[in-house]
Amino acid sequence: MAQLNESLTFKRGLTIKNRVIMAPMTTMMSFQDGVVTRDECAYYGLRSGEVGAVITGAANVQENGKGWEGQLAVYHDRFIPGLSRLAASIKKNDTRAILQIFHAGRMTNSKILRGVQPVSASAVPAERPDAETPRELSSEEITDLIESYKQATERAIKAGFDGVEIHGANTYLLQQFFSPHSNRRKDEWGGSREKRFKFINDLVGAVTEVVDRSERKNFIVGYRFSPEEFETPGIRLPDTLYLIDQLADKPLDYLHVSFNDYKRISISEAYQDKPIIHYLYEKINGRLPFIGVGDIRTKKDAEDVLEKADLVALGRALLIDPHWTAKILADREDLVRKELSEYEREELMIENGVWAFLEGMMPERLIKK
Ligand SMILES: Cc1cc2nc3c(=O)[nH]c(=O)nc-3n(C[C@H](O)[C@H](O)[C@H](O)COP(=O)(O)O)c2cc1C
Repeated sequence: MAQLNESLTFKRGLTIKNRVIMAPMTTMMSFQDGVVTRDECAYYGLRSGEVGAVITGAANVQENGKGWEGQLAVYHDRFIPGLSRLAASIKKNDTRAILQIFHAGRMTNSKILRGVQPVSASAVPAERPDAETPRELSSEEITDLIESYKQATERAIKAGFDGVEIHGANTYLLQQFFSPHSNRRKDEWGGSREKRFKFINDLVGAVTEVVDRSERKNFIVGYRFSPEEFETPGIRLPDTLYLIDQLADKPLDYLHVSFNDYKRISISEAYQDKPIIHYLYEKINGRLPFIGVGDIRTKKDAEDVLEKADLVALGRALLIDPHWTAKILADREDLVRKELSEYEREELMIENGVWAFLEGMMPERLIKK
């Protein structure tokens, strides 16, 4: 088992100084058009320097892929100057900067898209209140989308990032292609599980090829996925085990799961003997580094996860205490801030959007009233 303070070198040669990664968390602090703000740079800078790498919040690769207000954008060259400032504010004291690249698919609405109808694999709305019915992407548009991910990767390279993470999780567009709920296509992009994987397969191939053809050495590519859906039909753990079995043989640098609790047990009865993370780690079987996540608060949590993962990602713990890593690595867990009150928001640079998000997903014990 790896130690938290042990370095790790990815396949493409990038080394990170320890096993702690800041999980991608949208700041909702970008300008309305997706340009990075100075406050956003300061927010990341506050949480950087101690962790091995920071993965940014999701950045949309096409204008119609915007998921929420205040989101980071990477769909045009005009975003490169701001993204360069963002990468620079993360890259201090050898912390690596990774840009998460994303398209919301059907998980947005025409208000956020300023009158434009959302798109997806098929014209099926999400099962949530007020979900709009998306427009089915044409084959030509799917090819354009892959091109947009390639261009976003080139922009990340130009902006000085150390890598990109392809956001294939949390019900957004890539997951919509893999899911039998949102992908009902009858052409080459849909049908069987293998065919629903085609978009992800082609996209990963295209992005990694761009990286390997670029002059930049050591630039890494990761992939994030969610293990299960609750809808019927929907992605179940055996589907995800198939997905990561394929991805682990691709020229990727890491795989990263997304859920809120590392102890989570599957909804599939045949997979309830141990937490989901065990099944994932065993399937990957050392082919690629694997990032575990989900309510890691204490050193013991992190060490528990490192038994079934190579790296740990922390979201909320680093929102509450930007110096979690230094304190834990120095064995001063007693100093870690465990609760957040609204009076500490300014110091921690937690804007309204993130605060609302936290109130929605944070257990009571973490917000002091
Ligand atoms: C405010 C906030 C914003 C988030 N934004 C993203 C995002 O942009 N991309 C993503 O993949 N996950 C996002 N997540 C999920 C986190 O990456 C992480 O998986 C989740 O918070 C569980 O980890 P934690 O318990 O350490 O917070 C977000 C979570 C929070 C709290």
